[in-house]
Amino acid sequence: MLILGLQGSPRKGGNTDTFLAAFLEKAAQAGAAVKTIQVARAGIVPCKGCGYCETHGTCVIADDPMSTEIFGLLREADLVVAATPVFFYGISAQLKVLIDRCQTLWSRKYVYKLKDPLAATRKGLLFSVAASQGRQLFDGIHLTAKYFFDAIDAQFSHALTYRGVESKGAIRQHEGLAADIDQTLQKTVLPLVNRKKVLFISPTGACRAPMAAAMAQQRYGDRIRTGFGGCSPGDALHEPMIRAMQRIGADMGYRTPRNVEQALYGTTPDLTIAIGNGVDEMPVPGKNVVRWSLPDPVSSDDAAMDRLRLEIEAHIDTLMPLIK
Ligand SMILES: Cc1cc2nc3c(=O)[nH]c(=O)nc-3n(C[C@H](O)[C@H](O)[C@H](O)COP(=O)(O)O)c2cc1C
Repeated sequence: MLILGLQGSPRKGGNTDTFLAAFLEKAAQAGAAVKTIQVARAGIVPCKGCGYCETHGTCVIADDPMSTEIFGLLREADLVVAATPVFFYGISAQLKVLIDRCQTLWSRKYVYKLKDPLAATRKGLLFSVAASQGRQLFDGIHLTAKYFFDAIDAQFSHALTYRGVESKGAIRQHEGLAADIDQTLQKTVLPLVNRKKVLFISPTGACRAPMAAAMAQQRYGDRIRTGFGGCSPGDALHEPMIRAMQRIGADMGYRTPRNVEQALYGTTPDLTIAIGNGVDEMPVPGKNVVRWSLPDPVSSDDAAMDRLRLEIEAHIDTLMPLIK
């Protein structure tokens, strides 16, 4: 389970940064993998408003960290934390740059009608701080967060917002902070961390394993978290597989093959499914290993890929009783 923190303040060691780090430290202790993007220093290029994503499904700015890393992390994350100071009753300009680029994910969802495999369970959290006491201080931020979380297929869990916090580090003195973090862990983090972990492995981790992982995730996502890996991971997912999943409305975009150790962030799977012939002799992680014999995808035509998908789907029917 991955928590992605988007630290939206330009002030390093400031209130947003301090608060987010405290939350993520607790979440890591509870068993989550955590990753922070220091948005102000990430070098994200602003959206050009060119409309390319609405006609191609990908962003025209293909070589900045948003396209090469952050879209992938947003797809991988089970919980996305948007953390920002209030700047003129809105979110910081730095975080806004990242959010605007998510028009690409909005397009995949609303123009291409694709659904991310984690959509049913992904959550979004909002953290914000502001110096004054204004009644409507966080209204603008709430609205932006609501539409951001919708675009990235995350359900808006709740917001933790703090007034009267101005100087660097003042958030540490805020009463109730530890209790708020603890409640959020109980309510939002632990149900996601406590799901059983199922790892799918195929020779390259580019076709059968990601297909199976995505279908199992969609189907049983409230009970399991799947990961996929390859014994010798390829550079990119198999394009015909991506199209076969698109034909059932599943979005495999911005995902890449990974090695077996990275697939579940170093945690031990409760069940490992090794798919195909190439993995028969390979040592695979986990004590509970099941091997599925599914043919190598020799033909990449649509009909063959659809047959493979149906075959995997039939195996997925039998998955849950295998988990110990
Ligand atoms: C450009 C700018 C605009 C701000 N606008 C507001 C504001 O509209 N309302 C408010 O209460 N505080 C405002 N503040 C204060 C910050 O929200 C506050 O100092 C916050 O604690 C900074 O968080 P940080 O340490 O994470 O950067 C503003 C600060 C800056 C630098």
